Amino acid sequence: MAEQHQEYLDRILTIELGRCTEAAAVAASTKIGHGDKEAADQAAVTALRAAFNKLDIDGTIVIGEGERDEAPMLYIGEKVGKGGPKIDIALDPLEGTTLTAKAMSNALAVVAMATGGSLLNAPDVYMDKIACGPGFPKGVIDLDASAEDNIRSLAKAKGVDPSEITVCVLDRPRHDYIVEGCRKVGARVTMIPDGDVAGVFHTTNPEESGIDLYIGTGGAPEGVLAAAALRCVGGQMQGRLVFRNDDERARAEKWGIKDLDRKYDLLDMASGDVMFAATGVTDGTMLKGVKWRGEKVFTQTIVMRSKSGTVRVIDAASKADSFNRGYSDQ
Ligand code: FBP
Repeated sequence: MAEQHQEYLDRILTIELGRCTEAAAVAASTKIGHGDKEAADQAAVTALRAAFNKLDIDGTIVIGEGERDEAPMLYIGEKVGKGGPKIDIALDPLEGTTLTAKAMSNALAVVAMATGGSLLNAPDVYMDKIACGPGFPKGVIDLDASAEDNIRSLAKAKGVDPSEITVCVLDRPRHDYIVEGCRKVGARVTMIPDGDVAGVFHTTNPEESGIDLYIGTGGAPEGVLAAAALRCVGGQMQGRLVFRNDDERARAEKWGIKDLDRKYDLLDMASGDVMFAATGVTDGTMLKGVKWRGEKVFTQTIVMRSKSGTVRVIDAASKADSFNRGYSDQ
């Protein structure tokens, strides 16, 4: 009976999570194209925090806007919610601040929740990442292998030529060697300007997104959020933290990370029962962005739960008034 009740609460919480990312996305959307990425992020943070504080949870932010002394809201360790089950929360109120400021595609509001202790407390450093979608034998990709070898291996498992594999890569000079490797075996490369949570997520549905493989270095917090998403839909991912200086190493040690060279797989980054929600801020390949139309605001949100494997896409029309252009009171 207790188990059934917990299951019922989890199901409700998954939908509530979608309400939280809706609120963050709608708030951020008021800043689309205004050229001010900080203002866009702040709007999303304020709305997300207000939405969390309506939930019946005893939530702890494990991946947030930064450490307490550098982020006034949604900092790592901050408690949110009105009380209830203990839940860890990883969030990126606005994944793609520059994308929003410049009105470019694929900006998202993203949140993952899991039972206490099951999300990697990744510090705000870089992470080397590789990911592919579901349906392939375990070990088909390997972070320590070259882009060429990973493409060949995935192509073989998919039963296609390497030239039919598309790799998504963040457009950064540090990734030139990856792009070169992809070209060497004739694979296609989709370069994205920002937003590697969406980049990784695209691998879960290559028919729709056209992307089979994600390779590159991006934020570690975004890596954990992407891993949480993959836990719900299936797929493979590996990551390793990248430290540029002693300060970053010290941060990791502070969060209890002992082996700084560890190669993490999906379950190391997001174990337990995971829930994930993302709402489109600007139009993207994964989700439609927020639209203000007269008295209504239209949003599109994906909510997922690892336990059931359910993936729901929710199209919502809400009263524009209820969001008060930056604060959701839906
Ligand atoms: P923001 O939302 O903080 O702007 O991050 C966007 C992003 O592209 C992430 O998706 C990615 O992990 C990271 O920045 C890459 O960092 P950098 O811009 O330093 O290469």
